[in-house]
Amino acid sequence: MKKVLVIHGPNLNLLGEREPEIYGTDTFDSINDEIMQNAKERNLDCEIFQSNHEGAIIDKLHEARKEFDGVVLNAGAYTHYSYAIRDAISAIKIPVVEVHLSDINDREGFRATSVIQEVCIAQISGFGKKSYFLGLDELKAFFEKED
Ligand code: DQA
Repeated sequence: MKKVLVIHGPNLNLLGEREPEIYGTDTFDSINDEIMQNAKERNLDCEIFQSNHEGAIIDKLHEARKEFDGVVLNAGAYTHYSYAIRDAISAIKIPVVEVHLSDINDREGFRATSVIQEVCIAQISGFGKKSYFLGLDELKAFFEKED
């Protein structure tokens, strides 16, 4: 069974409570339950990690290169300016899918720039919590192509 890691970046631990008009009312825990359920349905072994710290996300990406077959990453605001996270994604050989709950192309101008898009296998943005499930689909399709 392929192993996948879902990484939530800064402020996503407050889902449900944080700007519900943008990110919805589902709580972080309930979204994670649904991610686990969706992974199971796709026959993927899934682990979930959240951090508000850039370095912790980078450390986890480094660890993932040995322990996981792919990553679904919502880097939160780091998406827009963290060259360090971009470099970490480039440094590891496993596929990373970039996801966002909101449509980053339809908000403030600064959000339309993703410095990680080029080094990810896909960008999924604007489908609410479903963005994570679609991210799992992208990884699944990647693994199937590989085999
Ligand atoms: C986000 C979009 C980012 O611009 C924002 O900083 C977030 C969440 C999303 O999932 O829509 O924290 O990545």
